[in-house]
Amino acid sequence: MQDKLKDEALRESRKALDLMAKSVLTATEQQAVVDDCVTNFDRYVNPGILEYRKSVSSDYTSVEWRDEGSVCYDIHGKKFIDCLGGFGIYMLGHRHPTVVKAVRDQLEHQALHSQELLDPMRGYLSHLLAMVTPGDLQYSFFCNSGTEANEGAMKLAKLWARRKKANHTLGMIATTRGFHGKSFGSLSVSGKGEFREPFYPLMSGVRFVPYGDAEALDKQLGICDAVGFDIAAFIVEPVQGEAGAIVPPDDYFPKVREICDRWGILLIADEVQTGMGRTGKLWGMEHSGVAPDIMTMGKALGGAVIPIGNFIATEEVFSTMYENPYIHTTTFGGNPMATAAAIGALHATLEEDIPGQAAVKGAYLKSKLSELAGVYDDLLEEVRGVGVLIGMQFRNSDIGYAVSRGLFSRGVLIGGTLFNSLTLRMQPPAVITQKQMDQVLERLDATLAGVRALASQGELVAH
Ligand SMILES: Cc1ncc(COP(=O)(O)O)c(C=O)c1O
Repeated sequence: MQDKLKDEALRESRKALDLMAKSVLTATEQQAVVDDCVTNFDRYVNPGILEYRKSVSSDYTSVEWRDEGSVCYDIHGKKFIDCLGGFGIYMLGHRHPTVVKAVRDQLEHQALHSQELLDPMRGYLSHLLAMVTPGDLQYSFFCNSGTEANEGAMKLAKLWARRKKANHTLGMIATTRGFHGKSFGSLSVSGKGEFREPFYPLMSGVRFVPYGDAEALDKQLGICDAVGFDIAAFIVEPVQGEAGAIVPPDDYFPKVREICDRWGILLIADEVQTGMGRTGKLWGMEHSGVAPDIMTMGKALGGAVIPIGNFIATEEVFSTMYENPYIHTTTFGGNPMATAAAIGALHATLEEDIPGQAAVKGAYLKSKLSELAGVYDDLLEEVRGVGVLIGMQFRNSDIGYAVSRGLFSRGVLIGGTLFNSLTLRMQPPAVITQKQMDQVLERLDATLAGVRALASQGELVAH
């Protein structure tokens, strides 16, 4: 490294460290952070992100700086009510005190693990998860994200299936429009062509069936059987999140369970988005009373303070990893900071009945949004979802963009789906207050009125 660049790097890192340490910034410092941020994104992160933000908002240079509860603030102090919920992270809101304290307490004596001695917090968290997850799910493997949890779950399913069907190629069945992450294995079972096409060939042996259609699963397994192709598992979300809050029929999972058992394959429930109370129950699978063989989680598991992912399986399934516990590993998985955060998150979730809050507040929001859909039926086609996982489907994508832009300018964060802006997702923290919900609804009403006026003048910008 050149001396000149080393000096520059020292100055730049010192500047960032000093900024982090400051509780109050002057107006000049605030503007300098905004300018630095835009330049750094343009030159060193991805200029495409700036272009995307410009299309969502004229205020695209908004730089986040502080958050608490259900709100975040940009560096100039502009307040946003968070109805995006970090795409499912913020069930407990931002910086929940129980989680922050757990992490601070842990940090005071150890941050990461030795990788050799046994780590007690991993043990406590595994025990806790065995207590609170459906059925006989018992053994946990911790990782750092949702996609990793699904990678591990599918590898475990293949290990389990190979016990019975040694040396066979083993496939997976997944659902169209499902989303399980963007690493190769998880992408291979995700059902959106746009994300898949540039990366073919993906993991082989994946078959797709329509979501919510148990008979289609049965039929596909019959076809696989007829052509001598063995399937290890069916991977599915309890409610499809990225696809826009798609809730399956009530009898879907009981039927799926029976079909998986009859064909001798595992059921993997991807609870990365639906877990930790999002749907009004602690786990999305609780709505059907069906226990999967493997369940994956992530997002809100770390209490929105430290990232953590996990897959948990029954003893019978997990025991295939006893013989060689290092057949699947990750350096940071189950580290003390992450497990401390998850223990704090689970404690707060149970103590404050976060699933119950999500159920009540989600029902309120959904009923009020349905009223708005009645008033603005030329714009808003359908409101669906469960708990605080709500999808608003507009008549077209341009309307969705205009609504998300209008809400942003009115201080409400809301998410498109990874698919497009035809459906916007409302995923506030379960701790959102009544006043905040009413403010969001008022601002949405005003936004829809504005979008209707633009549309009638033919001034909606196409995307
Ligand atoms: C159901 C589901 N599974 C997996 C993932 C991937 O999680 P991550 O982005 O942490 O890898 C997501 C992310 O949105 C998800 O919604």
